[in-house]
Amino acid sequence: MLGVILAGGQGQRLRPLTLGVNKHLLPVGDRPMVAHPLGRLVEAGLDEVVVVSSAEGVAALAAALGSGHRYGARVSFVVQDEPLGVADALGAALPWIAGRAVCVILGDNVFDSSLREHALAHQRVGGALVLLHEVQDPERYGVARIEGERVLEISEKPARPPSNLAVTGVYFYDHSLAERMAGLEPSARGELEITDVNLAYLRAGLLHHRRLEGRWVDAGTLDAYRRANQTFPA
Ligand code: G1P
Repeated sequence: MLGVILAGGQGQRLRPLTLGVNKHLLPVGDRPMVAHPLGRLVEAGLDEVVVVSSAEGVAALAAALGSGHRYGARVSFVVQDEPLGVADALGAALPWIAGRAVCVILGDNVFDSSLREHALAHQRVGGALVLLHEVQDPERYGVARIEGERVLEISEKPARPPSNLAVTGVYFYDHSLAERMAGLEPSARGELEITDVNLAYLRAGLLHHRRLEGRWVDAGTLDAYRRANQTFPA
């Protein structure tokens, strides 16, 4: 299984911190933000990792991560030409993924539980596997409505969330990812949404869910970034 870290975007919600620094290189504890998801992949045994970012982002991230050797990984970099959304960044990595199963992590997701069991579970069930985490502010995230084993619905940043289960930025996809992504259309904000990738699997009856235990922070806003540093101090 290949690891993919999506580290695009302009970090607008983290201004002014991101005016001169790539968002994913801001420190969380004693490491750059992106080293957290990278560490989780390596810990789960996924040491081949593709990092996707803008051209400037790739330059900065490559300077920081190098070959990945320091982190126990073999890291390659892929450029996303325009900031057209998380799923567009994933699309840029499809030639590298080349039909392999992947664990995709958003570069601003910082968490402390192992992905090992989830990777094994995905090997058993196939399709797509999303990891859910209970939050106080579900309207900030993709939100899942579930019934037992089944995911009934995922809505992206709903004004009236159907549950408090955030879909974290950790996703497992099988060999059919390129096929599921083929018909994606831009959302109202003009971006390709990762939630729509998950919904394509849902419609095919191939979307599974598990809980992401422990602590989880999406460090994409100033408040959340502060919380990430409080939650994961050096
Ligand atoms: C993205 C996804 C959202 C998900 C979140 C998790 O949102 O679109 O579905 O819940 O990451 O980190 P963003 O943080 O890019 O707004």
